[in-house]
Amino acid sequence: MGSRLALVALTASLSGCSGGSDGPDESRQGGDTTIDDRKYTAFTHPAANLTMEEQSKFTLGTSPFNFVWEIPQLGPQYNNDSCLGCHVGFGRGLPQIGPTGIIDINGPQSEALVRVSLPEGTPDVPGGPVSVPGYGTQLQDHATNGAAEASITLTWTEQVQTFGDGETISLRTPHLAIRDGLGNAIPVDMRTSFRIAPPMIGLGLLESVDIDALADPADADGDGISGALNDVWNPETHATERGRFGWKANTPTLHIQAASAADNDMGLSSFIFPEGNGNNDIQDDQMEGMAFLVSAIAVPAAAPRNAEASHGRELFDQFKCSSCHLPTLVTGTGPIPELSNQTIHPYTDLLLHDMGDLLTDARPDFEAQGVEWRTPALWGIGIATTIRDGIAFLHDGRARSYAEAIMWHGGEAQASHDAFQAASKADREALAAFLETL
Ligand code: HEC
Ligand code: HEC
Repeated sequence: MGSRLALVALTASLSGCSGGSDGPDESRQGGDTTIDDRKYTAFTHPAANLTMEEQSKFTLGTSPFNFVWEIPQLGPQYNNDSCLGCHVGFGRGLPQIGPTGIIDINGPQSEALVRVSLPEGTPDVPGGPVSVPGYGTQLQDHATNGAAEASITLTWTEQVQTFGDGETISLRTPHLAIRDGLGNAIPVDMRTSFRIAPPMIGLGLLESVDIDALADPADADGDGISGALNDVWNPETHATERGRFGWKANTPTLHIQAASAADNDMGLSSFIFPEGNGNNDIQDDQMEGMAFLVSAIAVPAAAPRNAEASHGRELFDQFKCSSCHLPTLVTGTGPIPELSNQTIHPYTDLLLHDMGDLLTDARPDFEAQGVEWRTPALWGIGIATTIRDGIAFLHDGRARSYAEAIMWHGGEAQASHDAFQAASKADREALAAFLETL
């Protein structure tokens, strides 16, 4: 498509003017919002260019995000009692499903969640998933009083794969055993999708990108890689809009994402998802503050590239990683002026791609099919383990390393997978060294 080519051309011209011998200068990953911190606090800062007034709004949103909610606001059904409990350090959560039952504030809680639906029936909202009687479209595995609606046990199986040079790698697959609150089996035809909590940086920048201009659903440019948009229901505007957030781009705006997280993950009502009795658990200004907060978290600067990482950046193009993980985008105009017209390096096209049968969850989410996932942004990925030990990659956290994540790529990314699998150990390590600088 013309616009995709235009972006590629833009990347090329940027590399031409500012790169020097080490390739393009992509260090200010978040444009003018970029901050310089690659420690465990890297994801906690407001965008560097916010006004004083916006910084206050950011701080206002931080309190309800960090707050550990209690009865009577929390629940009755929930997954975790704090946003931060899943988005630890404003980064990603572990692929962890905790014990169920009545509130145990000292016990581990779930940092991940399971979306559910039925294959047939009338959806709750136009085009959306069909809810499961008694469960809705998300399992809440904790309750403030009595049994939770579901009890989930996660186990893994391992399978060994071999690189071209004979070295091996073990890949793990998650398996969920789900029972209802009374220990009974759940409906047999229930579709499930296990998802970890993604990191929170730069989301308002991504909200300001013109994704229609990036889409290439029929692969018009013939590179073997298409890129589809999701169309999802916006309960605030009562209209179908482009989906952007969540692992399948199943949510239209950060405003809705923040409010529905409060509602579904924690059982907190707000003016966006009211309780009906006029008493919302989250005050209106707190809700607005939290939506602003998740829009305006700064993106950390990339680490300098040594020779190995620079070589990895070249391989990132050679292996066609950059066909989906687009290195450079320019934001349009959005509600937060400081996030508008920024040249950013998020390494995503925000589009849905067929990633092959090995990664399918077999659960459509609006227009997104089971095999389709939205390209995740890779900025900040090199700091993920500094923020939290034991974190993992891909929608369900099955990948414990970059190499495992790449080895799971299939479908439209099969050529990338094959190039990586066939590459020398030195090249595989160079690619990882590049990702570590992001
Ligand atoms: C139980 C864990 C959990 C809790 C609690 C939680 N989240 Fe999330 N969050 C997730 C998961 C899982 C996703 C991905 C959802 C999907 O793909 O459908 C997500 C996605 C998001 C996204 C979109 C990120 C992206 O890159 O698309 C935002 C924004 C967000 N959450 C904000 C919040 C806020 C604000 C709160 C508190 C009100 C919160 N979350 C509470 C697990 C959680
Ligand atoms: C066809 C598009 C496409 C191509 C090509 C592609 N990716 Fe991906 N990548 C994705 C999608 C979509 C996901 C998310 C899949 C999932 O969660 O199941 C992903 C996930 C990842 C992740 C994990 C991110 C996270 O936040 O968990 C890494 C790392 C990654 N890709 C690196 C690469 C590298 C390196 C290459 C080249 C060797 C590559 N990708 C090629 C689309 C692509």
